[in-house]
Amino acid sequence: MKGVILAGGLGSRLQPMTRVTNKHLLPVYDRPMIYYPLQQLVFAGIRDILIVTGGHHAGDFLRLLGNGQDFGLEHINYTYQEGEGGIAEALGLAEHFAAGEPLCVILGDNIFERPIAPAVDAYREAGCRGAMVLLKEVDDPERFGVAAFGEDGRIERIDEKPTRPPSRFAVTGCYFYDPRVFEITHGLEPSARGELEITDVNNRYIGWGELAHHVVEGWWTDAGTVPSLYRATRLVAGSDSAVLRGVGDGGDGR
Ligand code: G1P
Repeated sequence: MKGVILAGGLGSRLQPMTRVTNKHLLPVYDRPMIYYPLQQLVFAGIRDILIVTGGHHAGDFLRLLGNGQDFGLEHINYTYQEGEGGIAEALGLAEHFAAGEPLCVILGDNIFERPIAPAVDAYREAGCRGAMVLLKEVDDPERFGVAAFGEDGRIERIDEKPTRPPSRFAVTGCYFYDPRVFEITHGLEPSARGELEITDVNNRYIGWGELAHHVVEGWWTDAGTVPSLYRATRLVAGSDSAVLRGVGDGGDGR
């Protein structure tokens, strides 16, 4: 399994901070935001990693992360997303990198308190077939993609930022896909906000009867708005989870 971190976009909800840097390079407690998804992948044993970036400050990722030596990696792959085409468009850029292997995809502004390794194991046990999303129960589901469940307990639909959420289970920004995901990203149409939506990708897997889910332990937060960035810093500061501290800071995060 390979890993992809989606770290493009203009970070318009974090202006003026994002006028001079990329959102994913802003600090969350004691390190840049992108360290958290990168640590998650490395702790889950995923070492072949692509970062999809974009915007005006893409070169700063190279200066910060280089070949990933601080994370015990020998190499990091990078690619560049022109413009603001959305998360699913950014994912489409990973096709050559994936080269037919399954992917674990994490949004660069998503922070999970506990290791995602159990979800990686569950997807592997399912033969890396179809897709899997990570869910978390939240108080403000209208800010996210939200799962609607059928009577069999499986997700029957995902609504993107619904005014009337069908449940309190947010679809977090960590997804597992088999190589057929690129058939889907190539055929997507832009949404009302002019972007290719990851929720449309996941709903297509639901149509195939091939979307599994896994509820995460510990807290989860995004950090893409001023209130959530502030919240993320407080949550990280107050947690003892080793996966938030990184390589060389004790433990392997499990
Ligand atoms: C995106 C997805 C949404 C998901 C969220 C998680 O929203 O579209 O489904 O719940 O990430 O952080 P965005 O933050 O890009 O608006």
